Amino acid sequence: MSDQITRRQFAKLAGAAALGVGATSGAAASPLAAPVVRETVGRQPIEPRAFPAGFLWGTATASYQVEGAVAEDGRGPSVWDTFSHTPGKVMNNATGDVADDHYHRYKTDVQLMKSLGVKAYRFSIAWPRVFPQGSGAPNPKGLDFYNRLVDELLANGIEPFATLYHWDLPQVLQDRVGGWESRETAQAFGDYAGYVAERLTDRVHHIFTINEFGAFMELGYRIGIHAPGVKLPPGRFNQARHNGVLGHGLAVQAIRAKGKPGTKVGLAENLVVGVPVIETPAHIAAAEQATRQVNAQYLTVIMEGKYTDAYLAATGADAPHFTPEDLRVIASPLDFVGTNIYQPMFVRADSGPSGFAVVPNPASYPHMASPWLFIGPEVLYWGPHHVAKLWNVPEIYVTENGCSSSDIPAADGQVYDSDRVMFLRNYLTQLQRAVADGVPVQGYFLWSLMDNFEWADGYTNRFGLHYVDYATQQRTPKLSAAFYREVIAANRVL
Ligand code: FCB
Repeated sequence: MSDQITRRQFAKLAGAAALGVGATSGAAASPLAAPVVRETVGRQPIEPRAFPAGFLWGTATASYQVEGAVAEDGRGPSVWDTFSHTPGKVMNNATGDVADDHYHRYKTDVQLMKSLGVKAYRFSIAWPRVFPQGSGAPNPKGLDFYNRLVDELLANGIEPFATLYHWDLPQVLQDRVGGWESRETAQAFGDYAGYVAERLTDRVHHIFTINEFGAFMELGYRIGIHAPGVKLPPGRFNQARHNGVLGHGLAVQAIRAKGKPGTKVGLAENLVVGVPVIETPAHIAAAEQATRQVNAQYLTVIMEGKYTDAYLAATGADAPHFTPEDLRVIASPLDFVGTNIYQPMFVRADSGPSGFAVVPNPASYPHMASPWLFIGPEVLYWGPHHVAKLWNVPEIYVTENGCSSSDIPAADGQVYDSDRVMFLRNYLTQLQRAVADGVPVQGYFLWSLMDNFEWADGYTNRFGLHYVDYATQQRTPKLSAAFYREVIAANRVL
């Protein structure tokens, strides 16, 4: 529906609480301000446009967006089932009932990956398949699907990267305790994470706890245009945000307790990335501080174990309630940080107390088929760069990047998505620049393997490398799939 507008607003809204606040700028407060990027890496210099040997090229999907089979093998309903079946919530009243039928066609889909040459696949596990009641009795048949998928990936030489929460909250938790409004959900999420870790980490070595606080919280619990469609007032909303990051921390601890030694844990966050409007030292410093401040409620508290002064000042009486122990759990050490990066937020230095100002996009600013997806390739340079420098993160993945295009098959049946190729070439050029500068990005997961259920946009916006004919479930590689295959084979931008 108005997903695009709202997502566009989101970049502003998410940070709004912390922006323009007359409190202490983070620069002085951060103990992590020392430049670390070049020094931490120690890679050999690499050729222009080339990526280092072993760079992990991948692709990504998420359970509700591709699986279908919503009533099979004991799966319980999720908030997205309920939301999409509520008339008027999703474009054309589309649902994920069938989606890409990936639940039944996963073997075919693994072959699509193989023909691209990807080394890794990021998928998500549907919590209500594993715990139909959210907690309590597990449903082993639900986890079996992921056992089959993981085995199939490994048999084809593709490394599985699993996300535990890509927005399909068991409906029962929303009904019983208000979902993320309650600490019970955080606790249940930790238990579910431990259960999965115990059973998959013999084969899955990278686990993401949560995908994009910055989307499902803001859109689902504040603005109400994603499931569960709730519009909480500020105090309750900030508490829900807090319960979300607490759930992440509990999951990290449960995975460490139950997973095989050597399991790596992180998250996949769509941090709002401040991009310096001009690459001068002053604007760069402002963009870095903006990134720290506008992500205060999610990535910053996770990485620093404290809410910024500016966030607490901005939220005032509506600030979340928490204990020091909560903060300790939230900041449980991570092995890597995954970044979902699409559009920039341009920033300039400013003489006000925060030291930065957001530069709004003019009406003529170009975007892809989704109106929220403003094109700014430099964001793929600055996102990982800020994460490495602000928090001294030694292992970073781009866990999502890609774009929607108004893909229409040509007379010969092919999809010539030259705009997606343009988008990818330019973004990857900036990613290569980051890697060449020593930013420790280890891999890139292109969103998405194939067209799928794009949340409130239903099936109207296509993000896939493969065109999906939803009537026949036929998958057709687009021009961008050929492009990506060549990039992977050459390990350089082409
Ligand atoms: C991200 C979501 C992903 C997909 C892309 C286009 O925010 O994580 O599921 O919808 O956007």
